[in-house]
Formats: sequence, structure tokens, C-alpha cells
Amino acid sequence: MLIYSSLTTILLLAVFSKTWALTETERLEGYYARNYTWPPKFLPDNPGWVKLMTQRLEQTINPAVVAPNFTELGFGMTRAPEPLMEDLRNAIRDGLKNGDARLEGKIDVIDGPQEPLFIDRPDLTQRVLRELHPYVEAWAGTELTPFTAYGLRLYQNQSALWMHVDKVQTHVVSFILHIDKSDDAEDWPIFIEDFEGNTHEVSLTSGDMVFYESSKCNHGRPRRLNGSWYSSIFVHYYPKHGWAEVDHKMENHYAIPPNWNTPVKPEDKKYTPLTMEGTSFREKECPDDWCLTQNTIKWSGPGEEGVWLDPKFRKHPLEFKTRSVMVE
Ligand SMILES: *[C@@H]1O[C@H](CO)[C@@H](O)[C@H](O)[C@H]1NC(C)=O
Ligand SMILES: *[C@@H]1O[C@H](CO)[C@@H](O)[C@H](O)[C@H]1NC(C)=O
Ligand SMILES: *[C@@H]1O[C@H](CO)[C@@H](O)[C@H](O)[C@H]1NC(C)=O
Ligand SMILES: *[C@@H]1O[C@H](CO)[C@@H](O)[C@H](O)[C@H]1NC(C)=O
Repeated sequence: MLIYSSLTTILLLAVFSKTWALTETERLEGYYARNYTWPPKFLPDNPGWVKLMTQRLEQTINPAVVAPNFTELGFGMTRAPEPLMEDLRNAIRDGLKNGDARLEGKIDVIDGPQEPLFIDRPDLTQRVLRELHPYVEAWAGTELTPFTAYGLRLYQNQSALWMHVDKVQTHVVSFILHIDKSDDAEDWPIFIEDFEGNTHEVSLTSGDMVFYESSKCNHGRPRRLNGSWYSSIFVHYYPKHGWAEVDHKMENHYAIPPNWNTPVKPEDKKYTPLTMEGTSFREKECPDDWCLTQNTIKWSGPGEEGVWLDPKFRKHPLEFKTRSVMVE
């Protein structure tokens, strides 16, 4: 069993991080200049979230613990417009029929006997990025810059997507749009952690859109898919104002205290050992490789057009402040 302490992980991040150009002395100057403490002041500071992040820090380091949050609880769900969904579903059925689906290649956070399939439809991914931009801005309550829309990906039978958080600089406010699944496929819930520290298990219906703060909320599909294929598109934005100016990855480096390289004694380890798979996490001692899948808040689509549902099942009107904007 591989046991990674927070220290090993930080060291690995340091070694592999291209932006790691600081000496330890310079980094510590940054730590003191920012008045950081250890453990850091978590944002947000809800008790449940602080408890979860404290656990995570002992197991490893979450890249976005000190970055600000934009919503109250970290995620929500709505529905995409049906005409767009119809075109996306047809693109998959046609792509599969015409043999346009190619193997995507090995991806470190995805595990399974077969690689995912990929149907390349930049016309549609750009349309999603543009057409649903007002939706995600309405949810986040802030103006956003589109970064990327990725898809159409089709996960194949017995795939798992290990729990992870996304890149803190560019994948800040995101959504997953579930397009379709094969007729033989069972539900394949997404597991996601909210800002009160609860783990949710969300089963989606074609057309459901899950908004989430993807660099803060740990998410994944660690339970394996049972069925031929399951398809989604992944869309990422970052705040338009005041975000790109800050090097958020460096900010996380600065938040690490001196003595980070003092090993945690085995008897002081309180949590299940965490194993890194690339940039993602597994707890191999638990079913589905993730202990909290055993204690979730379960919910399922379909969502409702024009409103978004928060993690407490409260409905909020989706108030568009902007029109669809052209992608720069
Ligand atoms: C850190 O604390 C010092 C002394 O209280 C204060 O002068 C300084 O502005 C603080 N710096 C930051 C970045 O908060
Ligand atoms: C961040 O989360 C806290 C606690 O959940 C919440 O009170 C606060 O409003 C959130 N920040 C924003 C900008 O929504
Ligand atoms: C997977 O689905 C097949 C039917 O396609 C079923 O026989 C099998 O029991 C399912 N496996 C699990 C682990 O649910
Ligand atoms: C997926 O894999 C499981 C386990 O090997 C198997 O039971 C099931 O029949 C497979 N489903 C399909 C559609 O291939």
C-alpha cells in the first residue's frame, strides 16, 4: 500500500510543477508576508467544509483551499435547452454510426479496461460554450471568461473517474453537461463535495447541467460505469475580473508553512491512506475507492429549465444578466 503523506505530495508537486522556481527562503518570505497560518484560514469557513479540508490537508494537499469561493455551497443543477440537446444527442448517434468516434488515449485520472471514445465536434462544443455562458454566469453571480469546452467524450464500460479538483487558474467555474448514455447503461452518478463538507451522489438525465466550482469542490465518478457508453461535455470558465492577474498556483505554494517536510508519524495519521493517481485521489481501502461514497446525499435529474437547484434542494430562478456572448 502506497501511503502518501501531505509532505510527499507537496514535494512531488514541487518537483513536477513547472512554475516552481522559488527557493525555499523566497517561498517562506512569501508565507510570512501573507500572514499565513497553519492550517490555513479555509475559504469558505463553514464548520463542515473546514473539517473536510482539514482531513484533506492531512491526507494530501488540495490545490484550492485558500482560493476564494463564488457561490454559497459550491454546486448546483439546471437543464440545458432542448434544441441544443437534440443536436448534441444526434451528433453522438451519428458519430457512432459513421465510425467517427476515435479512442481518446490514456488519461491519468480515468481508469478502465478501455480508453474513452471521442467524437470531435468543435462546432458544437463552441456552441455550448457560447449558448450556456449566460447560464453559468447567472449561477455564479459573476462575469466569466470562457476557457474551454471539452468533448464529446464517451466513457466506456467499467470506467472510473477518480476524485479530483481541477486547475485553479483556469477551471474555476465549470459545468458538466450530460448528453446521453447507451440504452444498456445504468446511472453513473457523479460524486461531489459541497462547501458544508457533504458528499452528494448525483444521477443525471440527458440534458442536466451540473454547475460547480471545479477547482475547489472535489468531484469524480469513482464507482465504475456499467454499460456500453456514457457521454458528457466539460466546460470551464474563470472570473473575468481580478483572477488572471493573480498566480493562484503560487499562492497555494506560499500557504505551506515551514517544517512541511517533517514526516507525519504513522501513529499520528488519523485518516484512510490516500493514493495519488496522476493528479487524482483514491482511497483504496474503501468500496468504490472512495470512503465517502458510503455516506452521500442522493439525488437525480431531470433538472428544471429556468431554475437551478442548490445542494439543499432549494430552487433559485436562473436570472440571465447577459446575452449569449461571442467567444473571443
Ligand atoms: C500582516 O500583518 C501585519 C502586522 O499585523 C500587517 O501590517 C500586514 O498588513 C499584514 N499583511 C497582510 C498581507 O495581511
Ligand atoms: C462563500 O461561501 C460562504 C459560506 O458558504 C458564503 O457565505 C459566501 O457568500 C460565499 N461567497 C460568495 C461570493 O458567494
Ligand atoms: C452490469 O449490467 C449487467 C447487465 O448489462 C448486469 O448483468 C450486471 O449484474 C451489472 N453489474 C453490476 C455490478 O451491477
Ligand atoms: C460491462 O462490464 C460488466 C463487468 O465486466 C459486464 O457484466 C457487463 O455485461 C458489461 N456491459 C456491457 C454493455 O458490455
